[in-house]
Amino acid sequence: AKIKEVDFVKSSNRPKDCPKDDRPEFAMLGRSNVGKSSLINFLVRKKDVALTSKKPGKTQLINHFLVNKSWYIVDLPGYGFANAPDSARMDWSSFTKGYFLNRESLVSVLLLIDASVPSQKIDLDCANWLGRNNIPMTFVFTKCDKMKGGKGRRPDENIRNFQELIGESFRQQHPPWIMTSSVTGLGRDELLLHMSQLRNY
Ligand code: GTP
Ligand code: MG
Repeated sequence: AKIKEVDFVKSSNRPKDCPKDDRPEFAMLGRSNVGKSSLINFLVRKKDVALTSKKPGKTQLINHFLVNKSWYIVDLPGYGFANAPDSARMDWSSFTKGYFLNRESLVSVLLLIDASVPSQKIDLDCANWLGRNNIPMTFVFTKCDKMKGGKGRRPDENIRNFQELIGESFRQQHPPWIMTSSVTGLGRDELLLHMSQLRNY
């Protein structure tokens, strides 16, 4: 599961423009500012392969990064940031929806959930939308260093509450989940191993 090299390939503003080869890929999805771009840098152990910001709305396109010349990590714009009154709904740009529905090489969506805040309806809606469309997902809890109650290796009430709420929708098969922190390094090995198992499946 070792990462030897990472190359930025391209930014696309439509699913049609994404790389045409069929290398397996994982897409980062989650609210703006949840830490999608940071998670990519954390996985590849480089500071600024993906651009991050304290302000939400940094990533605006579909960005493909090729790892070890054999699989892709895809950085996506976040949802839930638009100032529009209906921003609480699943309104992230139709192009990302199109991407999920049509990308055959997508192995799993990594759905990022901020562990430092209580469960958000928009995240539950997003998980349910993916589930309804049979798109495989893995829950990746981010910012576990900011959880109440110490170093954050044990799921705190935010995570437990999210699991409970999601359990009502995913009765038969609860998606796998991993706790991470790009600050402490928590979850890096576990997530890389998980991704390599899914690729070889
Ligand atoms: P958009 O591109 O706007 O959708 O945001 P994003 O999800 O890519 O978030 P980004 O990676 O840019 O990170 C947003 C902020 O969260 C930055 O200030 C990061 O430093 C911070 N952050 C990301 N991961 C962690 C983490 O594990 N722990 C802590 N404490 N902060 C984090
Ligand atoms: Mg980003």
